[in-house]
Amino acid sequence: MPVLAVVGAQWGDEGKGRVVDWLAADADVVVRYQGGDNAGHTVVHGGQVHKLHMVPSGIFRREVQNIIGAGCAVNPWALRDELEALSSRDVDVGNLWIDERAHLVMPWHLQLDGIEEDTRAGADQIGTTRRGIGPCYTDKAARRGLRAGDLLRPDLLRERVQAAARWHDITLGHFGRPAIDVEATLRLCAEAAASLGHRIVDTTAQLEVALDLDRTVLLEGQLGVMRDLDWGIYPFVTSSHPTAAFAPAGAGLGAITLDDAIGVCKAYATSVGGGPFPTELLDETGAKLRSVGAEFGATTGRPRRCGWLDVVALRYAARRNGLTRLIVTKLDVLDDFAEIAVADGYHLDGRVVERLPTTADQARCQPRYRTFEGWRVATTAARSWSALPAAAQRYVRAIESLGGVPVSHVSVGAERDAILAVPPTAAGQDAP
Ligand code: GDP
Ligand code: IMO
Ligand code: MG
Repeated sequence: MPVLAVVGAQWGDEGKGRVVDWLAADADVVVRYQGGDNAGHTVVHGGQVHKLHMVPSGIFRREVQNIIGAGCAVNPWALRDELEALSSRDVDVGNLWIDERAHLVMPWHLQLDGIEEDTRAGADQIGTTRRGIGPCYTDKAARRGLRAGDLLRPDLLRERVQAAARWHDITLGHFGRPAIDVEATLRLCAEAAASLGHRIVDTTAQLEVALDLDRTVLLEGQLGVMRDLDWGIYPFVTSSHPTAAFAPAGAGLGAITLDDAIGVCKAYATSVGGGPFPTELLDETGAKLRSVGAEFGATTGRPRRCGWLDVVALRYAARRNGLTRLIVTKLDVLDDFAEIAVADGYHLDGRVVERLPTTADQARCQPRYRTFEGWRVATTAARSWSALPAAAQRYVRAIESLGGVPVSHVSVGAERDAILAVPPTAAGQDAP
């Protein structure tokens, strides 16, 4: 009964989609367990670049059941469009299921996301993706949300939309927006039901069968621990829980022990949106990381903030997620740097700290760097550990020992096969 979670060990965009797509070769079920179409998971194979937002990254494996779990926030119209776009590129999307309990991102959630973000000034801006994620989860917690299964029950749906209108019209009116048009919303919902209705099921039945038959279940996270609602840089977070402990909960697997909690981590760091980011480089080195790594948001196209790897945050990620191993992506992006730095502590108010401080204190942290020699040779063609230059191997071993988690693989390109296994090493061996 192998149950694996793939989670972001940084601020998101670590390469979770490419890792899930690769691991899905040996999986029977892939479940997205939280978040919505704020995600941008890029999967590259056969020279084609696919940007997934709500569809799980196992979709390119015809035999894999792809499930959008109860913990997700689903915009059914955006999902319909995403599925149509995939179909038009000859991707078979037949094996995609939506749990009836997943919450619906409704048109007013998108409006409210924009209104709320616009009222936050300057440094207070979260920089949300404006996909309505926060307001959708707010409604879920406030018990006035709509769920995917409601699309299949017209009478209940009408009541739920009317109730939502009674509440949200107050805010929309306050900001000079038109009231919710209940009849128009119900027509939109009927369209969504017509295109997605056959996929809306109780997915726990499928998962129970998979577990009973000892099948491999992969739980795909969205974003990363640093933007987790509880464990991230609150309030600059998303409104759900990307961390591994939530993976079984969001998928409906109960308090199951994960066989493998895989953290995905870039060889450097990026962040999109507001909040502290201690290793951010606002100089030409940051610009070089951005251009070599093509660091622009897959969902919003925004330039990503770039900086050196932060192992204070990585150690935190390892503990908060209970990571069993790391997959380090984008090692090739560092191919042309003479020197590579890693923050292994912070200077904070005249002290040195090695544990991640709270959000407000992070904003005053100055990184304490240790440096590594670069390798100045292309790694993109490497397909084995021994094909990596010695300096690159030393850097990966440093991530392992400083982060306190074994690295099982590194990737050196976006294509599916550009990933290589890292041989295990005894703890402490090869420490920098
Ligand atoms: P996700 O949201 O965690 O799935 O990550 P994104 O897809 O938003 O961002 C990762 C980006 O890096 C994508 O454009 C990937 O195609 C790309 N990528 C992933 N792994 C590698 C790698 O090893 N090398 C390079 N150069 N690009 C990679
Ligand atoms: P993937 O899955 C990077 C960021 C936004 C913002 C904060 C809250 O591709 O890693 P939200 O729209 O969720 O309310 O925004 O989280 N954010 C992401 N950053 N990758 C993502 O997804 C993100 N999804 C949200 O920039 O700071
Ligand atoms: Mg992304």
